[in-house]
Amino acid sequence: MSDIAARIQAMEESATIAMARKSREMAAQGVEVISLSLGEPDFSTPDFIKDAAVQAVEQNYSSYTPIGGYAELKEAIAKKLQRDNQLSFDPSQIVCSTGAKQSIWNIAMAMVDPGDEVILPVPYWVSYREMVRMAEGIPRYIQTTVEQGYKFTAQQLEDCISDRSRLLIFSNPCNPSGAVYDESELRAIAAVIEKHPDLYVVSDEIYELIRFEGMHFSLGRIDAIKERVITVNGLSKGFAMTGWRLGYMAAAKEVAQACEKLQGQVTSAPNCIAQRAAITALKADPSEVAYMKDSFRKRRDLVLDKCKDIPGWVNHIPGGAFYLFPDVRAWFGQSVAGRDIKDASDLCMLLLEEAHVGLVPGGAFGSPNSLRISYAASEEQLVQAMDRIKKVLAG
Ligand SMILES: Cc1ncc(COP(=O)(O)O)c(C=O)c1O
Repeated sequence: MSDIAARIQAMEESATIAMARKSREMAAQGVEVISLSLGEPDFSTPDFIKDAAVQAVEQNYSSYTPIGGYAELKEAIAKKLQRDNQLSFDPSQIVCSTGAKQSIWNIAMAMVDPGDEVILPVPYWVSYREMVRMAEGIPRYIQTTVEQGYKFTAQQLEDCISDRSRLLIFSNPCNPSGAVYDESELRAIAAVIEKHPDLYVVSDEIYELIRFEGMHFSLGRIDAIKERVITVNGLSKGFAMTGWRLGYMAAAKEVAQACEKLQGQVTSAPNCIAQRAAITALKADPSEVAYMKDSFRKRRDLVLDKCKDIPGWVNHIPGGAFYLFPDVRAWFGQSVAGRDIKDASDLCMLLLEEAHVGLVPGGAFGSPNSLRISYAASEEQLVQAMDRIKKVLAG
C-alpha cells in the first residue's frame, strides 16, 4: 500500500516533462541532444514588459493583491478582449491566475461534478485530461485525423454530446496540432452547442497571437452561446512570459466568482510584479510582439520543408502555435537500427537515442499515431535536428 492518495497515484505525469527529463539525462552524459519537446517560445520577454516589472519592484509593489488580480489589470484585460476579440466583459467577470493552467484547473473544479462528462477533442492539451479526471469528471473523446487537419467537426461534437455533458474544452490555435479553427467552423460548432443549454465551453486561446494567416476569431463572439463560453488566455506564449505565470479567464459572473472563491483558498492572487508587467503587455498594440509570430512562421515553413524528406510522415499545415504534429503510423510494425517500432513512443525513443532529438509521442495528447515537434528552437538547431532524423529514418 502506498502512503500517497489514490488521486495522485491515478494521475499521469506529463509526457512532455518526462521526455525533457530523459533528454537532460542524456545531455548530462555528454550527448548533444537537440530538444524539440518543450512548449515555450525561445524568445526573451520583450524589454518594454521587463521595464514595467523593474519599475513595479522599485515602486514597492510587494503586497497581496485582490484574489482575482488588480482592478487595473482586469480593466486592461477587459479592454484587450474588446479591442482584439470583440468580447464584452465587465472586469468583475475576469479572474487572473498563476498561468492559464490554473485558470483551467479552477474551471474544472468549479464546473465539473463527479460523473459529469467533459468533451475533449483529440489531440488535446495534456493537462485537460488529468484535470478532468481529478475533478472526477469523465473525459469523452472526439477523434480527429491528420486528413481532417486534426479539427473536430460540428457533427462529431453532436454525436459525442449526452445528457451528462457538462463542458467542452479545446484550444484554438491548438496545442499540439497547431490547428486553427476559422469563423465558419466555429459558427458550425456553436450551432450545436446552442442546442444543448447545459453545455459550457472552455475556449483556450493562449496561442491567439501565434496565428499565421487571417484574424483570430473567438468562439465567445457568437451571441447565441456567449454566456456559456469561458475564454481562457494568458501571457505565456504570445509575450514569451512562460515563467512569469500569468493567465486569465473571462466568463459569466457566476462562473468567475466560483473560480475566484476556489483560488482564494488555494493560491490567492498571482504574483504582483507579473500582474504589473501584464498591464503594460496587454495595453500595448499586439503588433509590438508580432516579430515572434513572423519568426515562428518562418521556422514552421522550414521544418515542413524538411519533413518532405522523411519517409512515412504525413503532415498537415499548422495555422498557428509552434508545433508540427506528423502522423507517423507508416512506421509502426517496422524495424530500425535493430529496434521494433510498435507506436509513436517507440519512434520517439528511437529518435532520442539514435538521432539525439527529443520529441513528444502523440499518445500524451490522445493521438498515438502522431508525434509533436516543437519548432521553438533556432533555425540551425531545427535544420540539424531534421537532418539527423532523416539520417536515421531514411537510412
Ligand atoms: C493549450 C495550452 N493551454 C494552456 C497552457 C498553460 O499556459 P500557462 O503557462 O499560462 O499556464 C498551455 C501551455 O503549454 C497550453 O499549451
